[in-house]
Amino acid sequence: MQPLVEIAEVEKHYGDFHALKNINLTIGKGEVVVVIGPSGSGKSTLCRTINRLETITSGSITIDGKELPKEGKGLAALRADVGMVFQSFNLFAHKTILENVTLGPMKVRGVKKADAVKEAHALLERVGVAQQESKLPAQLSGGQQQRVAIARALAMKPKVMLFDEPTSALDPEMINEVLDVMVGLAKEGMTMVVVTHEMGFARKAADRVVFMADGEIVEQATPEEFFTNPKSGRAKDFLSKLITH
Ligand SMILES: Nc1ncnc2c1ncn2[C@@H]1O[C@H](COP(=O)(O)OP(=O)(O)O)[C@@H](O)[C@H]1O
Ligand SMILES: [Mg+2]
Repeated sequence: MQPLVEIAEVEKHYGDFHALKNINLTIGKGEVVVVIGPSGSGKSTLCRTINRLETITSGSITIDGKELPKEGKGLAALRADVGMVFQSFNLFAHKTILENVTLGPMKVRGVKKADAVKEAHALLERVGVAQQESKLPAQLSGGQQQRVAIARALAMKPKVMLFDEPTSALDPEMINEVLDVMVGLAKEGMTMVVVTHEMGFARKAADRVVFMADGEIVEQATPEEFFTNPKSGRAKDFLSKLITH
């Protein structure tokens, strides 16, 4: 396994609060890691530190062998290597769907407009929203907006994609249309870190499940192993609640 993201001895404090405790996690090229755990366990914080939306207190995070710079041009370039899709769709409200997908590549990657448009067409086709490209985000359903958010992130040609509960804000009937796009990406070999409560997705697409509680990685295993034979009390407790609700 060739490492793509290497997180070593990472600590994160918010003031007095210890949000990430000695996180060590290496994600290989093409690997799909699903992160699960109770609310407040540090899953979003972990995602946000990987592309430096949050700074870390100590430790190191490298992407493709390069340590994340603290600021400046280097940071912008490295951040462009990390695509991120959040729970809320975060599209530019006053830009069309097509503009949402072409802006980043043109501004950050210096892609020519004609090329950015061509690529955006292909991506919007792939996520199944090509017919909507001249609309504004608010004119689309939540599931469609989230698929545009994925297309927008992919347009930057990221090395790794982070998903932080991408289906949590969606109506139930729209969840699968987003998960299907993610399963497709996983199958094509995209390196992915996915925070989700969708255990079906974890079983179908994850190479590894990482279980977090109280800012720590408590255990990690293949989905098969983790779901049939969780080792820690915390994981057993978490899974039993998922099943009964
Ligand atoms: N900006 C912040 N300032 C202070 N505390 C924060 C901040 N962001 C998150 N936290 C705290 O850090 C802990 C982990 O949060 P988070 O990473 O969002 O957890 P999760 O995504 O697993 O629900 C929570 O207790 C949360 O209240
Ligand atoms: Mg979260």
